[in-house]
Amino acid sequence: MKIEHVEEKGYIIREATQSDISEVMHINRFFFPKNSPPYFFLQLQSNYSKAFLVAEKDGKVVGYIMCRVEYGRTSFGFRLIKKGHVVSIAVLPEYRRQGIGKNLLLNAENALKEYGAKEVILEVRVSNIPAIKLYEKLGYEKIKVLKSYYSDGEDAYLMAKKLV
Ligand SMILES: CC(C)(COP(=O)(O)OP(=O)(O)OC[C@H]1O[C@@H](n2cnc3c(N)ncnc32)[C@H](O)[C@@H]1OP(=O)(O)O)[C@@H](O)C(=O)NCCC(=O)NCCS
Repeated sequence: MKIEHVEEKGYIIREATQSDISEVMHINRFFFPKNSPPYFFLQLQSNYSKAFLVAEKDGKVVGYIMCRVEYGRTSFGFRLIKKGHVVSIAVLPEYRRQGIGKNLLLNAENALKEYGAKEVILEVRVSNIPAIKLYEKLGYEKIKVLKSYYSDGEDAYLMAKKLV
């Protein structure tokens, strides 16, 4: 298992194991009231384990990212390609602004490249400024607005980044 040490901040980024799933679900439930069942997380962990990462600090999981790989049209043209899709990313409030979200995403991008993905896509609430700033900082572009994407009626931006 690849472990990314970010020593100066005292946290590590590593692949999630099945025993991390309950902590991941706890964080997920905190931010995303739509509560997915355990098998949803377990399936992503088992199918795309390299791109299901957790950040660990103080002996606990303080953030995670989970992704899947899809085949479809590129956001930047017409070719059919493999795309990495960020399903969810979150960091506990007291551990934010330490680069954890950025490092989770950068490590997930590398893992998605290993799966053959040529770009990464994600959806984000149009009101979610912290997340949009993070994605733009890492080179993601707003591709289009997905009208009423969320169950409460809020729109999403579809954002994408080419992997080189
Ligand atoms: C979005 C989220 C994952 C960012 O995690 P994080 O660990 O705080 O992010 P980082 O510390 O790596 O931030 C990297 C950069 O993103 C931008 N950024 C992050 N949070 C920001 C904020 N609140 N306001 C403005 N810019 C922000 C900054 O450019 C930041 O760099 P800087 O700290 O050097 O200025 C976190 O806010 C979170 O968990 N939010 C709730 C869940 C969520 O909304 N997930 C996304 C769903 S699509």
